[in-house]
Amino acid sequence: MAAVYNGDCLEVIRERNIQGVDLIYLDPPFGTQKDHSLSTRDGNTLFSYSDRWDSKNEYSQFIRSRISLFKQILKPTGSLFFHCDSTSSHIAHLILDEVFGEENFRSEIIWHYKRWTNSQKNLIPAHQTIFFYSRSADFKFNPAFSDYSETTNVDQILHRRERDWRGKSAYAIDEDGDYIINGAKRGVPLSDVWEIPFLNPKAKERVGYPTQKPITLLERIISLASDPGDLVLDPFCGSGTTLVAASLLGRRSIGIDISESACNLAATRLENPVKTESVVLNIGRGSYLHKAADALKHLAGLDYTVIPRNKGIDAILKKELNGRLVFVRVQREFETLDETIAAITKGTERKGSCYRVVVKTAPGNEGQAGFEGLSETRNLLIISSFSDQINQALAGPESSPGRLVRKMPASPAKQAAPGLVQPQAAAFEPPA
Ligand SMILES: C[S@@+](CC[C@H](N)C(=O)[O-])C[C@H]1O[C@@H](n2cnc3c(N)ncnc32)[C@H](O)[C@@H]1O
Repeated sequence: MAAVYNGDCLEVIRERNIQGVDLIYLDPPFGTQKDHSLSTRDGNTLFSYSDRWDSKNEYSQFIRSRISLFKQILKPTGSLFFHCDSTSSHIAHLILDEVFGEENFRSEIIWHYKRWTNSQKNLIPAHQTIFFYSRSADFKFNPAFSDYSETTNVDQILHRRERDWRGKSAYAIDEDGDYIINGAKRGVPLSDVWEIPFLNPKAKERVGYPTQKPITLLERIISLASDPGDLVLDPFCGSGTTLVAASLLGRRSIGIDISESACNLAATRLENPVKTESVVLNIGRGSYLHKAADALKHLAGLDYTVIPRNKGIDAILKKELNGRLVFVRVQREFETLDETIAAITKGTERKGSCYRVVVKTAPGNEGQAGFEGLSETRNLLIISSFSDQINQALAGPESSPGRLVRKMPASPAKQAAPGLVQPQAAAFEPPA
């Protein structure tokens, strides 16, 4: 549920007696001494707002009076994220310290993005700053994780560490000499530098509002500092990015903007929220560069952590099964299925009791041993990728006897399609 109000945020909050807010994100004018304007892709509508001030003092007063009110309407567990850039970050930081207290400063988040501008006699600005303050020490915070770096190996990710007899950190070993597994980790705890692409001119979610921020950035903030059902306020909501992100994440939200056309735009956006998915972001930039992208695309829709630098394992599912880790390996183009199985088996050696999932991507290259070797590998599930299933179906009965469904069954097929490699139920049992 979202509401959008038109007016000066200071007045609207007082008049409407807005309070009990869990999270405030604000992206106010930065004090650039410019008029910002942009038109929609069809060129029919021009949006603009003024960011001109008589003095730094006037700008500081404007920010101070509003921040003071925002603090009052936050719940004791609430937080505020103030978005700015180098034009005014020094002013904002001082005011925030003053109003919230230095002890409630949590993070200075650097939003970093790639930008290609003509070279000037300076460094290219490639970041903006978001100050994170909480109302008190008892604030809401949901830990988040990012991908492992490409230099991390699977042992570092999985194995529990302890101090050895010299007091040095070492992998913990059980009485059989096996490494003790720490459980499926979700990645590295998120740092205060966030690499999120700037909205490119053709991005689907771009609505033509000047200084529009990406939904992904707002989703990260909202997920960090609020829970579903919480109330999120954006007092300078512009095109309504925060409200769209909040609605996608099941939060209630209020947006305020002094520009009527911005409010109308935000309300329209809320009726049909559109978000641009970034492939690079979804799979993780480092992982994307270092794992065969072709392999990872077969895992679309799964919640997994990419394992860099490991020939046998592509990913670990974030959710365990029966308290065991689930490792995944995708068959490569020039690899027989036996080789894929051998790779995941080797890669998961000494990883404790676990499950292994192999995604079979190519028909007809099962290898010399065929599937006989499977019985050797316990807890193994072989799934045909969609492309493999389609290829098998298209190959038809002649090219491969007993291949996929030849006729559409009259009633829903109870049996598995012949030719598909089915889960080896017996092999997927926990080891004795
Ligand atoms: C940087 S833009 C926000 C852009 C927004 N985050 C987005 O993604 O579209 C700043 C907004 O503050 C609005 N604004 C300026 N002064 C205001 C005030 N006193 N009260 C409410 N909104 C104000 C402007 O109209 C503008 O839309």
